[in-house]
Amino acid sequence: MYETIRLDRRGAVAVLTINRPDKLNALNNEVHREGVLALDELKRDESVRVLVITGAGEKSFIAGADISEFEGKTPVTQRDQFNEKTLFNSLDAFPKPVIAMVNGFCLGGGNELAMACDLRIASESARFAQPEINLGIMCGGGGTQRLTHLIGEGRSMEMVLTGDMIDAETAHRFGLVNHIYPAHQLEAETMKLAEKIAEKAPIALQLSKEAVKFASRSNLDEGLRREVDLFAICFSTEDKKEGVTAFLEKRKPVFTGK
Ligand code: COA
Repeated sequence: MYETIRLDRRGAVAVLTINRPDKLNALNNEVHREGVLALDELKRDESVRVLVITGAGEKSFIAGADISEFEGKTPVTQRDQFNEKTLFNSLDAFPKPVIAMVNGFCLGGGNELAMACDLRIASESARFAQPEINLGIMCGGGGTQRLTHLIGEGRSMEMVLTGDMIDAETAHRFGLVNHIYPAHQLEAETMKLAEKIAEKAPIALQLSKEAVKFASRSNLDEGLRREVDLFAICFSTEDKKEGVTAFLEKRKPVFTGK
């Protein structure tokens, strides 16, 4: 049983909700601890093929790290925590596709968490920022790195140096989010996308995800070699046989993850 998060299963899609709406779902130590445990559980659960992460309530996805916990933290504790078990690190290593469903403020650690997911779908009223600079600190959960990969150095630099919020349309234009929808359609559209991905072959999904993530962490030659290796692994799966046979038999494939 979790206290700061909620976990719901909807068929092959799991929905993890950060559940501190009175604090705009700010990430405290307990959210990280419970979130890491939940990801570990979901990773091993073969019935779960896609994960959606969102925030409770209508106002906020995640309004960043819980600032009230900053007071007691020293350079060493903060560095050790961020080098070890955080939601950012667990999401980065999570093998299944993860969609951030951004339903409001997406600030600081919230934006870093969304960027550690694979896809970001936002409501038109969502707002994005890396406001750490306004607290006299800087990003520590991947903000300077993933943001720069996603939107480029100039745009990233402006967000990080000013701490200013951008609206959902700007985030979409920058490539920070994949799609934006009116708030009342957000959940249905996100679930539609999650269910579409959940029907694909799980091993090929996992290897594809690994290959795409490797692209921003390697040079092109290494990346191309890695892709061929991963591609070759697909040819050892039952799902490859099923996918090819179904195509030739003009029917929809049923993938089992084997
Ligand atoms: N950490 C801890 N508590 C937070 C929080 C955070 N990052 N963000 C919001 N909260 C709390 C507020 O303290 C308030 O709690 P209270 O009711 O007990 O006083 C509650 O959530 C509601 O927030 P409030 O500021 O009253 O809402 P608002 O609509 O006036 O403003 C924000 C919304 C998001 C603009 C504002 O809360 C904010 O700037 N939050 C901090 C964002 C930030 O700097 N994040 C990066 C941290 S590194």
